[in-house]
Amino acid sequence: MKNYIFFGFFLTLFACQFTENKENEELAKGDESIDTSLAIELGEALFFDSMLSLDSSISCSSCHLPEFAFADTARVSKGVHDQFGFRNTPSIFNLKGKPFFFMEGGVENLHRATLGPMLTEEEMSLQAPQLLERIASNEHLHQNFIRAYGEGYEYRDVVDALVQYQLSLKSLDAEWDRYTVSGGDGEWERGRALFNSDSLNCSTCHPAPLFRDDKFHDLGLAHGEPLDYGRGRLTFDSTDYYKFPSPSLRNVALTAPYMHDGSIETLKEVIELYQAGGGPRKPNDLSTTFQLNDQDTQALLRFLESLTGDAAKSAHHRAQSNG
Ligand code: HEC
Ligand code: HEC
Repeated sequence: MKNYIFFGFFLTLFACQFTENKENEELAKGDESIDTSLAIELGEALFFDSMLSLDSSISCSSCHLPEFAFADTARVSKGVHDQFGFRNTPSIFNLKGKPFFFMEGGVENLHRATLGPMLTEEEMSLQAPQLLERIASNEHLHQNFIRAYGEGYEYRDVVDALVQYQLSLKSLDAEWDRYTVSGGDGEWERGRALFNSDSLNCSTCHPAPLFRDDKFHDLGLAHGEPLDYGRGRLTFDSTDYYKFPSPSLRNVALTAPYMHDGSIETLKEVIELYQAGGGPRKPNDLSTTFQLNDQDTQALLRFLESLTGDAAKSAHHRAQSNG
């Protein structure tokens, strides 16, 4: 009898796994059959359109600002009905191949990660049928969806267009990409050596070329109220409490404020945090403390700034000069 119960349990597990995979396949379907360039164009139009939110007040780009490498300058962003979220908005460059999304790492598929903000109450809060109605009533958008996905296009195609656009957002055109090939000047080389050194240890958790390791670490930051348990929110495992994924440092000079809660304003202060061996809550996963003189700090900052992509920098300057 016991065996049957066990077997039943595994069967259910397997069945769940199976439906999950099927659903993922369903969601990911269309990748090959559609005209990707048209899908990207559609996705871009949707990304900047506030029709995606319940009260038509915000778009994806309200929080993922293109002039700040698709991150936000606010500590935490505001969703519909002026509700604040509890985390800092990350950049969405270079998501292709990322193994998980969101800071607890619970979503492994970009289609699902895109559905998240579309549906959640604090973000856009608009349900599928309403969005399809809005698209259908916009003749230009409606015709383009038909061209890209066919007459009977569905909600998952809308999600897919947004995914195709996000996958097209690459940023690998920084000074760093050129200097690593041809060599940089003395200050930059000094910054690079510090970044890769055993004493600072930055490159262990922020390895090139994306400068993120897709693992979870505790920097001793999470404290106070409301407490963010990071990965622990997903696993309920106390060894995962307060752990966050190391964010990519590509374009980091444009994405202040920093950390999951946006609690650090400048890169200089981030460096100070590491010098002190992390935040106030001890112990944490940082194994080193170190001292840097002004020149070394400057060199490390210079290295971090060299990770800003040319296109991201131009988008930033264009927006600044337009006021
Ligand atoms: C109200 C602000 C806000 C809006 C609107 C918003 N986002 Fe986000 N986005 C965030 C925040 C905050 C996070 C980090 C959440 C977390 O990790 O818990 C995030 C995370 C993401 C991620 C995961 C990135 C990663 O590397 O883990 C993706 C993908 C994303 N958003 C895409 C979108 C898309 C597409 C839209 C529009 C449909 C959108 N977002 C709208 C604030 C927003
Ligand atoms: C043990 C792994 C680890 C080491 C070592 C490490 N980092 Fe980090 N880094 C992280 C994690 C995790 C975060 C995100 C923490 C959070 O969101 O609360 C982070 C965040 C950052 C940020 C903020 C990025 C953003 O977009 O918010 C910067 C800048 C940074 N690290 C630079 C460095 C530098 C420079 C060094 C070396 C002095 C370094 N890191 C060493 C894991 C590490």
